[in-house]
Amino acid sequence: MTISKIGEGIANGKIILLGEHSVVYHQPSIAIPFPAVQIKTTVASQTGKTKIDCDFYHGLIEEMPELLESLKETIRVCLERLEQTKTPLHLTIESSIPAERGMGSSAAVAVATTRALFDYFDTPLSQKELLEIVDISEKIAHGNPSGLDALMTSSSIPYYYIKGEPFQPINLHLNAWLIVADTGITGQTKEAVTSVAKKLNGPDQDQYKIKIDELGVLALQGKIALEKNQPLLLGKQMTMVHQLLQQLDVSNQTLDLLVQIALQNEALGAKLTGGGRGGCMIALAKDEKTAQKISHALKEAGAKKTWLYEMRDPDEE
Ligand code: PMV
Repeated sequence: MTISKIGEGIANGKIILLGEHSVVYHQPSIAIPFPAVQIKTTVASQTGKTKIDCDFYHGLIEEMPELLESLKETIRVCLERLEQTKTPLHLTIESSIPAERGMGSSAAVAVATTRALFDYFDTPLSQKELLEIVDISEKIAHGNPSGLDALMTSSSIPYYYIKGEPFQPINLHLNAWLIVADTGITGQTKEAVTSVAKKLNGPDQDQYKIKIDELGVLALQGKIALEKNQPLLLGKQMTMVHQLLQQLDVSNQTLDLLVQIALQNEALGAKLTGGGRGGCMIALAKDEKTAQKISHALKEAGAKKTWLYEMRDPDEE
């Protein structure tokens, strides 16, 4: 086996465009890769014991804290599959994906690290094997992963997804800009998912079930808007989704404020993204100038960070 001197792996962030929470109840969802934030893992040779350098830890792999167990498992599984369990390595992980903001940072670390280790040992890695390895890591990080984060952080195209069914690639034909804003507050996905489940089993369950169905219809219609370059329609759908998520009590004051600010600044639509009660919100703009204006207004209103992303029709290159 030829060993390259440095192995490199990259993964991007992910954004749920439509369908968060309702996807848990087998309604459709749409997620997109978000390359404005990335994780890069570099693997180099090392004498002595395997060592890690990342934002949360600098030291030997064997002394890594419990918090990084999923990363440790990713490395262990990769080295086992590569039959290199005894080779000491130096792994460096650089990330611009904020943790616990619904951008898939844990899956992205696993994707980038797996890609880097296979690259270092010059071994081909199929998408199937990559997703298998990341799934093992995500089970430790999240318990019951849908596989959505693993797919989106390793993909370059959006997907339509219904739990239990195969992921369907979306043929994106949209010319618009996406603005993502971080509230600076850790997302509360688990609590929000539990609270929705309680509502769906509570006295007003019929009323909440209708909202889940409506979220599903909006995701289905959103797919068409993405494929047929209908940014105005997609914007409207996004705002309607935010209102439904508010009614399900998974938003919070900061997310609501940022959504309102985006809409007051010519956003075509805006909503929270991911689990909610913190994390990030997204807004859609017709062009770059408007996206810049919205981004500026969101920062003025307290957003910790914003990112702009051009959603471009590939046929218009
Ligand atoms: O916060 P995130 O990006 O992990 O997204 C959670 C999405 C939910 O639909 C709320 C939960 C899930 O498991 O799909």
